[in-house]
Amino acid sequence: MLFENEIARVGYLSRSVPDGIDLKAEILNMKNEKNAVILAHYYVSEDIQSIADFVGDSLALAQASKKQSADIIVFCGVHFMAETAKILNPRAKVLLPDLNAGCSLADAAPEAEFMAFKAQYPDAIVVSYINCSSEIKALSDYICTSSNAIEVVNAIPKDKHIIFAPDKNLGMYVQQVTGRDLILWDGACIVHENISLDKLQGLMEKHPDASLIAHPECLPALLERASFVGSTKALLEHVQVSSLSKFIVATEAGILYQMRKAAPDKLIIPAPALESNSCACSECPYMKMNTLEKLYNTLYYELPEINVNEKTQAGALKALNNMLSI
Ligand code: 13P
Ligand code: SF4
Repeated sequence: MLFENEIARVGYLSRSVPDGIDLKAEILNMKNEKNAVILAHYYVSEDIQSIADFVGDSLALAQASKKQSADIIVFCGVHFMAETAKILNPRAKVLLPDLNAGCSLADAAPEAEFMAFKAQYPDAIVVSYINCSSEIKALSDYICTSSNAIEVVNAIPKDKHIIFAPDKNLGMYVQQVTGRDLILWDGACIVHENISLDKLQGLMEKHPDASLIAHPECLPALLERASFVGSTKALLEHVQVSSLSKFIVATEAGILYQMRKAAPDKLIIPAPALESNSCACSECPYMKMNTLEKLYNTLYYELPEINVNEKTQAGALKALNNMLSI
């Protein structure tokens, strides 16, 4: 039997937007009428980034979610991000334009398997990358993002064992920088692992004066060659402040929009993907599920709504606050 909310969702999904309307203008009108705010990750389409109230990386979005006073937060990103917004701001109605917008990292850590893994190391502190479900967050002591993973691990006393989940690539990078021995969960981002090392080599030979900058979710063999490693926001800031003028950017292609806007005189070249697609770069299929049409319907029907059960909310909030207080 379908629940009431589910019936509404099925109805909502089958609706198409009215013909001939100015989607962006209608979205902005509705947003104001309903006292809603649109938060977007750097990896969603330019169309959505251009009308969002706030665009940021995972950490900045978590911080922004927490301080919103709007009645509705429309989260243009992926499911774990919308869940995080709900956990940090339970008073707000949190909407995600497509419930199928998941994440390969969150999918890599199912709750039951993670509980069994954790039970093998009863004395270990659990640090989970924010790219995980609310259930995994509730089983964690600290959450981290790619912006602060090093600080979070460094804040844990040296005599403690640390489980780091679910991104093994970020974990290996943190291990290398901090010198700590981490117990790694075996998860990865399909987008950052999809960057072709062979094609990248060719691109670097073609542009010997370009600096390779990379997100820490990339493979270790790529990170070794990078002259700068950082979160999406750190990469954006690096391009702005660096005295260099040519960059090969190894992360999801959505950030290129902000980089070119912030540094129009610099040459920004996306790192090539294994399989060719329309941009020949690596795109997140989940982030790209957010479209203007779905954003319109989400605001119109106020669906699909993200909720987190009370017990999970409390546990996950504690781990998130442990991160935010560092
Ligand atoms: P950041 O937003 O922390 O850079 O992480 C990138 C990412 O893959 C988000 O899903
Ligand atoms: Fe997940 Fe990777 Fe997409 Fe980020 S880019 S949402 S880590 S699959």
